[in-house]
Amino acid sequence: MKSFERFGWRGCWRCEHCLAVCPVGAISIFGKKPENSLPPPPSEMGDYMERLVVNRRSCRRYLDKNVSPDVISRILKAMESAPTGGNSCGVEYTVIDDKERVREIWNAAYPVMEANAKRHSYTSSFSDFYYSKMKQSEKTVRKDDLLFCGAPHLFIAHERCVGKWAEDSKVNCNLATAYFELLANAFGLGTVIMSYPADVLQELAPAAREMLNIPADHYMKLIVGFGYPEISYARGVQKERGSKIHRWTQKKSR
Ligand SMILES: Cc1cc2nc3c(=O)[nH]c(=O)nc-3n(C[C@H](O)[C@H](O)[C@H](O)COP(=O)(O)O)c2cc1C
Repeated sequence: MKSFERFGWRGCWRCEHCLAVCPVGAISIFGKKPENSLPPPPSEMGDYMERLVVNRRSCRRYLDKNVSPDVISRILKAMESAPTGGNSCGVEYTVIDDKERVREIWNAAYPVMEANAKRHSYTSSFSDFYYSKMKQSEKTVRKDDLLFCGAPHLFIAHERCVGKWAEDSKVNCNLATAYFELLANAFGLGTVIMSYPADVLQELAPAAREMLNIPADHYMKLIVGFGYPEISYARGVQKERGSKIHRWTQKKSR
């Protein structure tokens, strides 16, 4: 391919669609060879994806064990293809993939959160009522940890959000969070998407926030806890959102 003068709106978006579409693999671009691409998923993928989504659930009990780094690397490799507005690819991923490091961050945040709660001082999302409910849940679902739900690893999608496309940058982060969650579940891991600990780190425990090494001006609203799940489930749930789904039903042709 000829080299491009510019990228973005007035040139090539680096989307690589040309490499992907060629049926005989004749196009290489940016040093990427077609033979190094993953093949498309098999036709039964719809069935598997349906089962994955319906069986996915928040995991708040984990084995006290690090996930194999190879599995995490494979997920993060796939995450490089998560969509971003205008193919900006500006969203960054921070992964705390050592449970001892997660513990260190927990140690810097949890006592500060508790000390604040004693003074009835909470994150903007919480109150006496919500905190007391979360505290009670430590004895049941949250395994002594209302902050990170006992997760041995954390994944955080974050991006600097400035200017005209700032809202898109936030969406990039939240989409990446959802992609990561599904991929992790597809590899047999348990996950929980959490906004509360992100609020604690941002609003109450700046020293713990700094330990993440995420720039202060980056949007960071959701943290995904993940690890090997303690409990396995035998079937999917049967949530119903009929009244929340709006569609134009096609008339059947006669
Ligand atoms: C935006 C968002 C924020 C969430 N924050 C938390 C959280 O701080 N702590 C937590 O334990 N779960 C959190 N959850 C998980 C939800 O409680 C959970 O998805 C919901 O109860 C449905 O349960 P399920 O994921 O098992 O289907 C959050 C989920 C989302 C989407």
